[in-house]
Amino acid sequence: MKRFIYALLILPAIFLLTGCGEDNASNDWPDSAKQKAPSGLSEFEEVNGIGPVKAKLDIPAEFNTVKATEGEKIFDQKCYACHRLDERLVGPPLRKVTEKRSSEFIVNMILNPDEMQKKHPEVKKLLAEYMTQMPFQDVTMEETLLILEYLRSVADKQPTASK
Ligand code: HEC
Repeated sequence: MKRFIYALLILPAIFLLTGCGEDNASNDWPDSAKQKAPSGLSEFEEVNGIGPVKAKLDIPAEFNTVKATEGEKIFDQKCYACHRLDERLVGPPLRKVTEKRSSEFIVNMILNPDEMQKKHPEVKKLLAEYMTQMPFQDVTMEETLLILEYLRSVADKQPTASK
């Protein structure tokens, strides 16, 4: 009887030690299936960044002037310390940023700069160049979309002395 009990105790231990095969199989996936780009980011993340925006935003082609004016006020309070539209300051000039980056990328950068700086190859390059970390400016998604409207509104305007 005792032997039988020992056998009952030992059998699960053997299964645990050998791992039952199942779990190990999933580790055998080729790396190409786990990551799509050399950076380890998905194709979406390569173009649109990493953060709360995980799908294309529904943004009309024409910017909204009222929202752009509201966005400018927030920009002046929270971004102007480091960014100008046409000059390099602590951070890069932003007038043409909406032509260079997707709207989703810009929103993710504003809302999730830490992870963008750590993981996105384009932002890593900027960090190496500007050598300052852009901090999260404690803005909401709503405020960020207003700033985006402002940035969209300045893209094809001429440089001015004030900004
Ligand atoms: C303390 C300085 C600082 C503040 C404040 C700041 N940024 Fe930045 N920003 C940077 C730096 C530096 C970079 C370059 C990337 C890096 O080093 O992280 C950058 C990068 C960016 C980029 C990416 C530009 C590109 O070419 O892809 C965007 C967009 C941006 N900032 C928008 C904003 C907005 C909008 C605000 C205000 C909500 C803001 N930043 C506040 C310093 C700042």
